[in-house]
Formats: sequence, C-alpha cells, structure tokens
Amino acid sequence: MERLGTESAFEVLAKAKALEARGREIVHLEIGEPDFDTPEHVLAAAQQALDKGYTHYVPAPGIPELRTAVADFLERTGRLHTTPDRVLVTPGAKPIMFFTIMALCEEGDEVLYPDPGFPMYASIASFAGATPVPVPLREENGFVIDPEELESLITERSKLLILNSPHNPCGSASTPEQLEAIAELANRHDLVVLTDEVYWALRYDGDHHSVLDVDGMAERTILLDGWSKTFAMTGWRLGFGVFPPALVEPITRLVINSVSCTSAFSQHAAIAALEGPWDDVDRMLEAFRERRDVIVSGLNDVPGVSCVEPGGAFYAFPNITELGLSAADLADRLLEEVGVACLPGTSFGAYGEGHLRFSYANSVDNIRRALSAFENLAIS
Ligand SMILES: Cc1ncc(COP(=O)(O)O)c(C=O)c1O
Repeated sequence: MERLGTESAFEVLAKAKALEARGREIVHLEIGEPDFDTPEHVLAAAQQALDKGYTHYVPAPGIPELRTAVADFLERTGRLHTTPDRVLVTPGAKPIMFFTIMALCEEGDEVLYPDPGFPMYASIASFAGATPVPVPLREENGFVIDPEELESLITERSKLLILNSPHNPCGSASTPEQLEAIAELANRHDLVVLTDEVYWALRYDGDHHSVLDVDGMAERTILLDGWSKTFAMTGWRLGFGVFPPALVEPITRLVINSVSCTSAFSQHAAIAALEGPWDDVDRMLEAFRERRDVIVSGLNDVPGVSCVEPGGAFYAFPNITELGLSAADLADRLLEEVGVACLPGTSFGAYGEGHLRFSYANSVDNIRRALSAFENLAIS
C-alpha cells in the first residue's frame, strides 16, 4: 500500500468543504468534473432501463449492444475503425488504466508517463511493482511531449507509454506531427501505448488528434475513454477501453475478479448518450470556451502570473514562479486566505512545480470572483 498514491483533488475538496462548514465562502476550482447536468435523453433512457428491469448482472465485458454502439460511435466520429469484440466497458475510465497496467507491468518494467500528468498513472505503475518514468511536459514546448526527450528516456525495460490529450492538468493537445514521431518510437522500441482521451470532445481550436490516427498503431495501443467528461456523467461511472485482441481476455478476467460488470441500467443510458443528439455537448463546449477566455486573460492580468492558452479540456495551468512561493504554499494561501480552491501543479508530479491548476468547470461569475481574490492576494 505504501506504493499507492492518491488524487489530491479529493483531499482539497474535503478541506474546502470543512472551511465551508465553518461558514467560509469558497470558489471551487479544484475538482475536475463538468458542472452541467447529464442530458435529459440520457436520464430518460436510464429511467426506461430501470422500468424494464435492467437491474441485474450483465456480461463482464459490457452488454453487446453497448460494445457495438461504442465501435459504431468511434467509426462515426472518425476516431477509430474497430470491432465490438475489442471494446470493454468498465465503471468509469479509471479501471481501464488500472487493469491495463496490472495486466501488462511487473517488477523491473518501466512505464513512461507525462509529468505533470494524471496522478494515477505513476501511482498504479508503482503499485504493480513497475518503475514509473516521468516524461517532462515543458512550458516552452507548449506542455506536450518532446519526442527527442522521450527517446532519451526509453530503455530496454520500457514497456508502456501513457499519453493524454487533451491533457489534464495542462490543457495542451497533441499535434499530428508529434504523434507520428511518438508512434515511430513506440514501433521501434516495441512499446505498448495507453492513450487517455477522456477529454477528446473538449477541443477549442482544432480537431482532436490521436496516436491511433497513425496506421498500424491500433495493434499496440489501448484507447481509454468514457462518458464522464463528454456527457457530464461522472457519477454514473461509465468508461470503456479498446484493446489489441490479446489483451481482451486478460482484462475481462480482471473485470470478473474485481467489479464483475458495469451497472446494467447505466449501460443502457450510455447507448443513448452515444446515439442521441449532440446539442448538450456543443453547449457545454461553448460555455467552457467562454470560461477559458475569461480565466486565461484574467490570470495573465494577475501580477507575477502568466498563463498559456489551453487548447482543450477544462483546466488552466498558470506559471506562478514570479510570486516566489511554492505551488503548494500558494494553493494553501489561496484556499485559506481568500477562499479559492485550486490544486498545486505538484499534485501532478514534480515537473508541475511553479504552476497551479484551476479547473474552470464553474460559472463565469465565480471564476471572476476567484480571479479578483487571487489578484488581491498577489498584490498584498
Ligand atoms: C486524464 C484523466 N483520465 C481519466 C479520468 C477518469 O475518468 P472517469 O471518471 O471516467 O474514471 C480523469 C478524471 O478526472 C482524467 O482527468
């Protein structure tokens, strides 16, 4: 258990809630979930599924209708040509990460992952006994992996490469050229790739690109995605993975050994989300775009702070080095002195020092309130 980390967003949320319980007003910019309602037609589908009695165990890999709907959806959205037998449904996308690493990695194996990056990558890799190897995302590179630097970190023991675009916490997005170069490295060094694309629908200035766009990569790549972010369905716990054939049976066995299957009526709602109208997703994207513009320009107006414009997801990752405080100290002071909850960049790895992560899944009014509180703290 000593090797297993945690996700500090939940810890900061608890701290912020404790302050609220004592009467303090807090603006919540720490937690990474859309503040929108799940679309009506998805709720209706879940209610219908309950009425029809879909309240029992279902097949471990997912109900066949949903596995087919996922494959069709990936085809329709131009993301991937695949077949339903490669699709596995899990309670949230996180288990895809957990099961993939558990299935593939053992002591001595090295797992390359983005730093800053989603904290579970390194945590699960360590838990499996493998060695997590951070691949720095540098601000001067626009917070994307530099393929040359990646190559310098690959060894005989490198097993798995984790990619995430659009990126949490930096909001950066991979380009086709960069992905071509990464794919070439993965092929040359025989790496398995786990591509975390839970924010794929939240792009503001161009199309989503994936390492799976490169010919042949589907044979060594696991696609991780889900319903949490795209459809504002974090609490439904619905995710999926698309696997190379050899991994389907082992991962299914991990599902059977742990969760048995994913909630039956949730899976019926998941079909409605994939096949229903896209208006709610479009509306959410437009709201996030407006908030991104407000928070990025507002952060750049805070003395001593600079923020690059994120191309996707709903996170801003400003540079705070000029303020002369560590990210953890500044995040604490923001919460305790001016009631703004955010995360230090170091919650996402050592290379996150000098940055904060603000989730802009909150109203423009609240974002403006947080910005002026931050400004007051910065000039005091
Ligand atoms: C990069 C990334 N991957 C995966 C997840 C997990 O999503 P889910 O709710 O589907 O488990 C998150 C959630 O915050 C995330 O930020």
